[in-house]
Amino acid sequence: MARIRLDRRIGVVDGRRGHRPRRRAGRPILPLCRRQRRHHHAGPRTVRGEWDFLGAWAVQGEDGVAEFHTVYTQPGSIDAYRETGEFADGTVLVKEVRKAARGALTTGDVAWSGEEVLWFVMIKDQRDRFPGNSIWAKDWGWALFLAEDPATNTATDVEADCMACHEPARQTDWVYTQGYPALHDTTGPRPKRAAEANQAGRMR
Ligand code: HEC
Repeated sequence: MARIRLDRRIGVVDGRRGHRPRRRAGRPILPLCRRQRRHHHAGPRTVRGEWDFLGAWAVQGEDGVAEFHTVYTQPGSIDAYRETGEFADGTVLVKEVRKAARGALTTGDVAWSGEEVLWFVMIKDQRDRFPGNSIWAKDWGWALFLAEDPATNTATDVEADCMACHEPARQTDWVYTQGYPALHDTTGPRPKRAAEANQAGRMR
């Protein structure tokens, strides 16, 4: 079983007490770093700048690009995927959804990432850590955090909240891997911080 050794600063916690999610259904689950815990504003915002960029999606609305979806993962997980061709236990994927902003720039009519809306989170769990929990299923933990309250997971049931839309990605472990060139295109440099992350702590 492939397993990722996570950066020590990043745990998978329930957002309120300690480092481990409890087994009760519906408890908030959140990738969190120590700095966030110290400042008491737990939230997935710090993936920006601290985690590796996986890929981005531009979603069209009636009048051009309406949203940008930007996907991040923690240091070490891209490297692990490249080695094994699958997501290692403990891999966390965070999809940040932002409204598109738009304007005329020197490059033309341009859309860019504007106001933050929400974050979708998937946490790879090959060990069935929370059997019977409605947001841990199909080898992943599934969560949704809204921008107005980024410390609270609002997903309660994987089947109702997520699966209808992720079914088309069944063959690729429920992940839309075609949008993440870093997983497949191994001609460039390996992610810089992978070695460092691999020497750090391990998710339990
Ligand atoms: C309306 C359909 C829809 C729903 C509902 C939905 N997803 Fe997704 N999700 C997608 C699509 C399509 C993508 C990739 C393309 C995009 O973002 O436009 C994606 C991408 C993701 C990603 C980035 C990794 C990947 O799979 O490519 C995460 C993380 C994610 N979703 C988590 C969730 C979670 C957790 C839920 C439930 C709480 C959920 N999604 C509900 C359609 C959906």
